[in-house]
Amino acid sequence: MRVVLILSWASAAVAIQKPFLSTNSCPWKPLSSTELTCRLDHDQHTSPSPTPKETKPQPPPPSKWEATDQCSGKFCIFKNLGFGNGRGMVVITTPANIKKFKVLEKAIPKSSSEQPSPPFIISKIPGKGIGLLSNRTLHRGDNIMTKSPAILIHRTFFEQASPQIQSPLLKRAISHLPKTLRDAFLAQMSHFPGDKILSILATNSFQMDLGGKDGHHYGNFPEVSRFNHDCRPNVAFRIDQKTLTHVSTVVRDVKEGEELVISYLDSLEPRDKRQERAKATWGFECSCSQCSLSQKEIKKSDKRLEEIKSIEGKLGDVSSRGVTKKMMERLMKLYKEERLEGNLGGAYTLLAMNYNMLGDAKNAVKYAKLGVEAVELESGKGQPDMEVMRELIRDPRGHFSWKGRIGR
Ligand SMILES: *[C@@H]1O[C@H](CO)[C@@H](O)[C@H](O)[C@H]1NC(C)=O
Repeated sequence: MRVVLILSWASAAVAIQKPFLSTNSCPWKPLSSTELTCRLDHDQHTSPSPTPKETKPQPPPPSKWEATDQCSGKFCIFKNLGFGNGRGMVVITTPANIKKFKVLEKAIPKSSSEQPSPPFIISKIPGKGIGLLSNRTLHRGDNIMTKSPAILIHRTFFEQASPQIQSPLLKRAISHLPKTLRDAFLAQMSHFPGDKILSILATNSFQMDLGGKDGHHYGNFPEVSRFNHDCRPNVAFRIDQKTLTHVSTVVRDVKEGEELVISYLDSLEPRDKRQERAKATWGFECSCSQCSLSQKEIKKSDKRLEEIKSIEGKLGDVSSRGVTKKMMERLMKLYKEERLEGNLGGAYTLLAMNYNMLGDAKNAVKYAKLGVEAVELESGKGQPDMEVMRELIRDPRGHFSWKGRIGR
């Protein structure tokens, strides 16, 4: 019986830890040779934020997908100028995938196209170019924006076609977008030399899966590229695969006038590593609030990150001895001191399991609830391992982890 219990906890521990402890890394895959393809903002914004023009309001065209005869091999441009109430969208993919998209698109929330009063203004930020400033008090869980992509490109086309084939087709695809979205697309920062559109996409794309064996695409969200980077961000983001949107959410209280920032680096890595990655990916060093601390503060911060890793290693290993409540309280303190409110999902989940293994149902349930909230905020609903947390909330004493560490 004991063996069975331990085995089930062991496999659950693996299942629980992996996705959550890895969600902290940059979520979009390399499109070039560099390991990470994230974007770090700098003074390199070329164009100012487009000022909304006062034009006579015209009703948007109806939402309707059109196939064009602009193709390369099996990949063609599909366009929908009425998509999202006139926002518009283009896709470079196969006919089978555009069919999948049409089915999935029904789940896209209205808010992805029209957000009548977003909680921010786009503004010049001293030393940083353009950024987002909150224009009211915000709290954890508040939505900043939910956006559908401006362009979606099949992975094979993007990764395998040569630039000579990609460039003209991409250029045509972008030229189909309505002017507002097209301008926003072209205003994005691009870091790589060569074709501008290719470079923008390589710097600012997210993986999206339409399902099936051939469903991998890259999506670009021009408005999202306006967030500046900070290793200790006040906003978390995720790609919601169900609604095919990019969702950004506040992770701690934000004052009116404060800049809204997201992290493009793994916040849990030590500063040297973050610098290295920023340099490899963008050609300059990370200069966010956390990267530009004094030497003394940097040392302290790196030490805390090391300790976080070490405690989490212990908590995630069923065979660890000497797991204590003190250790878990310490972990929470470290997260707080490091301002890692956007990365709490994995830590809360580990705490829930470990409190339960120590026979502390009250704390186990408390952290399981916090874990569900944080994981959904960071990764979206429907994370498979959250079922384990919900079972724990319903019945901690009947849960397979109950008192799993006692006597060990
Ligand atoms: C914040 O700014 C947006 C424009 O980006 C505006 O629509 C909204 O009403 C403003 N909110 C407040 C509280 O001023």
